[in-house]
Amino acid sequence: MAELQEVQITEEKPLLPGQTPEVAKEAELAARILLDQGQTHSVETPYGSVTFTVYGTPKPKRPAILTYHDVGLNYKSCFQPLFQFGDMQEIIQNFVRVHVDAPGMEEGAPVFPLGYQYPSLDQLADMIPCILQYLNFSTVIGVGVGAGAYILSRYALTHPDMVEGLVLINIDPNAKGWMDWAAHKLTGLTSSIPEMILGHLFSQEELSGNSELIQKYRNIVTHAPNLENIELYWNSYNNRRDLNLERGGAVTLKCPVMLVVGDQAPHEDAVVSREFWGGRGRVGVLGWWSEGYLAKRQALFGTGRATMGPKRLIPGKNEMGMGLMGKELGSGSLGPLEGRGHREYNVIHSASCLHQVECNSKLDPTQTSFLKMADSGGQPQLTQPGKLTEAFKYFLQGMGYMASSCMTRLSRSRTASLTSAASVDGNRSRSRTLSQSSESGTLPSGPPGHTMEVSC
Ligand code: BEZ
Repeated sequence: MAELQEVQITEEKPLLPGQTPEVAKEAELAARILLDQGQTHSVETPYGSVTFTVYGTPKPKRPAILTYHDVGLNYKSCFQPLFQFGDMQEIIQNFVRVHVDAPGMEEGAPVFPLGYQYPSLDQLADMIPCILQYLNFSTVIGVGVGAGAYILSRYALTHPDMVEGLVLINIDPNAKGWMDWAAHKLTGLTSSIPEMILGHLFSQEELSGNSELIQKYRNIVTHAPNLENIELYWNSYNNRRDLNLERGGAVTLKCPVMLVVGDQAPHEDAVVSREFWGGRGRVGVLGWWSEGYLAKRQALFGTGRATMGPKRLIPGKNEMGMGLMGKELGSGSLGPLEGRGHREYNVIHSASCLHQVECNSKLDPTQTSFLKMADSGGQPQLTQPGKLTEAFKYFLQGMGYMASSCMTRLSRSRTASLTSAASVDGNRSRSRTLSQSSESGTLPSGPPGHTMEVSC
């Protein structure tokens, strides 16, 4: 293995004339980032070669941070804004980082020959032990986005002793259902692969807003020289198996998990509830469905109505039958409320994310934090690196890796609400919310086991 280099910058370095300690610290950070270029390696595995880049030096008795990126991206386009964020430096200087590029996604990767059998997501997960053996690392904390989150979860399920913690951003633990497949095929008739991938990464709102970030990522995906390879990774993602997570069952993640979702994640993820409203407001919830499901069903069958937007009510006269809808997520029965003059509405919860809510309900509540991030679009690690850094710090602190003295200004400036997963209604986990002000800077420590909503 090539020698890893560590840049030693001593605390006693004299300040330059007129330089404040703050400016010196900024300069030190900039130098550290500039000099630590990372070391790229490739290893052969039973499923082909895999490339990864290592930053920092291994720290005794500390796990490595291992990242896995989403479809359409590589480790740099997915994680650089997060790992180069200023406040992140005080965290990552304590850990070696291993950033995996899915095969064919590394910079300069040649296009695979026609007919190349790209590994399934499960096989991508099975490549990880080869990387860790090569580096002689014994445990990791995984940070994954989308397809990468799925791959790291699969790895954690098959190698529970190797994974100390998981940060899963935008995970969908389910295989595509027949409805998703039909909608996928329909979309494929009119959309290009880059458009479909952009629709997976970002919400329609973000895409039509066409911010600088969107322009940048549209350019990255549309003009990728390895687009054929990206399509292969995309196909593997779409062919994923169900993770089959079950709370308390044999298939569950044993380590602390932080589930993260942006509140404007792509539209498939919004949650719609079918609710009964009477004179004094809401009197009951009949069931929960994904807004994407309603949109797909409408596209396929032309019945009913699916509407996007902030929480609003839609009189439910001409909507689809409950039988088929109920199959998607299950439904509760209100029995006596029916036929008493209450009106039914679809209530659109634009700030929720079905897959993560569902995933949350299938994980051990004492080990799982659920972070729903405001104003973050589909890729919170790109748009809100500060909030994510703060949450990551709490997560590591809960695992005993960050001293509380490391809590910075970020923790003093907002209110967090802690929610412990409670009863399950249908397939949806209900939450009890306990609000706690963090004015004193005493946000949750101890084992992660709460939903922490950071909204600012
Ligand atoms: C890191 O320091 O881990 C890092 C640096 C650049 C890009 C991604 C990660």
